[in-house]
Amino acid sequence: MKVKPSSNAFQLYNTYYDLLYQDKDYLKEGQYVYSLIREFSPGARSIVELGSGTGNYSAVFSDLGFKVTGIEKSQPMIDVANAKGIRDFHSLQGDIAEFNVEENFDIATSLFHVISYLTENQQVLSCFRQVSKHLNAGGLFIFDVWYTPAVYSQVPETRYKAVENEEVHITRIARPKINFDANTVDLEYRLILQHKSNNAYEAMEEFHCMRHFSTPEIKMFAELAGLTLLRSEEFLTAKQPGSNTWGVCYILQKNA
Ligand SMILES: C[S@@+](CC[C@H](N)C(=O)[O-])C[C@H]1O[C@@H](n2cnc3c(N)ncnc32)[C@H](O)[C@@H]1O
Repeated sequence: MKVKPSSNAFQLYNTYYDLLYQDKDYLKEGQYVYSLIREFSPGARSIVELGSGTGNYSAVFSDLGFKVTGIEKSQPMIDVANAKGIRDFHSLQGDIAEFNVEENFDIATSLFHVISYLTENQQVLSCFRQVSKHLNAGGLFIFDVWYTPAVYSQVPETRYKAVENEEVHITRIARPKINFDANTVDLEYRLILQHKSNNAYEAMEEFHCMRHFSTPEIKMFAELAGLTLLRSEEFLTAKQPGSNTWGVCYILQKNA
């Protein structure tokens, strides 16, 4: 098998993002987040979505009647989102640790572990402060992150995933390495693409460094940013977080 290394790996990964996550139930997850919004802030109408990616949650929130503003670092992801023609949605290119827009919002969300991409304390604090600054009084910040007790009790292992559409077959291998002193995990992704039209193979690699959080850390960042922790629970099931809970959802509220 002859494999051609990709020269623009990051763009390629973005191109196939929706295919790689075709099994993710964005509708169910978006409705779960909506149930939290209804519980804590029933009159909310606007959302700033941090790390909006290809707009899959944005589309659900838009269908639920929200005006959605995305903040997203990757222009190729924004291009994919824009091509979906989502009503009442626009995405701005920017870093969620430094974003600044001339608008306030009822709700801030950051879903599918986007906050875990902020590996340095300063980035997390700066992001929380910008969220607080952009929220209306009583506004909510809802996000899910990797949870420290689960990372250390379950220990991440090498994972394989295969997906395909009519054009391409993709095999993805994800190899993790824990950095005990940094509360992070390096994820090395290796993707092998088989293009069906000419049977050519292509390989690409991508590295993601993911931070995991404990509840006292989230509380500390929240308090420093003028936010209060209302609740933490397992994302989607609403169970109490434990050593098996990889993704924990935090609901913070802007102080009055
Ligand atoms: C796992 S994807 C999730 C995308 C989207 N929330 C979803 O669930 O489909 C992570 C996204 O966060 C974006 N991202 C990571 N760090 C970021 C940062 N510092 N500022 C803005 N976007 C960031 C990435 O470009 C990517 O689109």
